Amino acid sequence: MSENKIALITGANKGIGYETAAQLAALGMTVVIGARDTQRREEAAKALRVQSVALDVTDPASAQSAAEQVEERFGRLDVLVNNAGITGGSYDPPSKIDLDIVRQVFETNYFGVIAVTNAMLPLLLRSPAPRIVNMSSTVGSLASMTDAESPLAAMPASATYPVSKTALNALTVQYAKEFAKDGILINAACPGYCDTDLTNHAGFRTAAQGAAIAVKLATLGADGPTGEFFDDNGRVAW
Ligand SMILES: NC(=O)c1ccc[n+]([C@@H]2O[C@H](COP(=O)([O-])OP(=O)(O)OC[C@H]3O[C@@H](n4cnc5c(N)ncnc54)[C@H](OP(=O)(O)O)[C@@H]3O)[C@@H](O)[C@H]2O)c1
Repeated sequence: MSENKIALITGANKGIGYETAAQLAALGMTVVIGARDTQRREEAAKALRVQSVALDVTDPASAQSAAEQVEERFGRLDVLVNNAGITGGSYDPPSKIDLDIVRQVFETNYFGVIAVTNAMLPLLLRSPAPRIVNMSSTVGSLASMTDAESPLAAMPASATYPVSKTALNALTVQYAKEFAKDGILINAACPGYCDTDLTNHAGFRTAAQGAAIAVKLATLGADGPTGEFFDDNGRVAW
């Protein structure tokens, strides 16, 4: 039953996060979108007819304040989708990369997930069936990046976005390990290559199609997996 569940999605003013919010709301969940820009957040919340909180995932104080607002409004959280992500916009190889860009990407895609997750954990632990979904990517799969047969083998070498998702995958496993005893099911998801601002609209899947795996992992039953990595076709090799 998805009714009466409270879900927070980070970076949900557009793209896959927006569509994840729409799909969870359609299931009857009470959805709260987190976004850093006030106008974009309010416009999205109005269009989706859902609630919203100010949330910049790179700012732990913002994450804490968002958690306080969720606590005041609902007293608990059932679903957290760590969706906010950036590429950093650089195609420089590791040997040429500007360290500030690496730091910026990790601030959002890795440290931001820790800040938001840790702020929300006390609320998630009050849920009878807590779920966390980390929006990752197969570009972060070590198996894919070392497989000459993989379509991802042709991607240019990078020390930023793919590596941040590798770190996020490892982080997912570590959180799942810590909270298995508490029944929190924590998994990583790959939405596939989607038509969003992040891909400069080059992706061949819609954002709604990309959101489907997040929704599936957000609504896992009690016997569902934890500490694993999925796309629409099933398990993804780490
Ligand atoms: N699109 C794909 O093909 C693809 C493939 C694999 C994985 N993914 C992952 O899926 C997730 C969503 O990507 P998308 O394609 O939907 O990208 P998108 O359209 O660019 O949306 C990204 C969202 O993240 C938000 N965001 C960025 N930095 C933030 C911060 N510091 N605090 C709060 N929100 C922040 C953005 O807000 P602003 O509007 O304020 O910038 C935006 O709402 C990302 O984690 C991405 O890595 C996407």
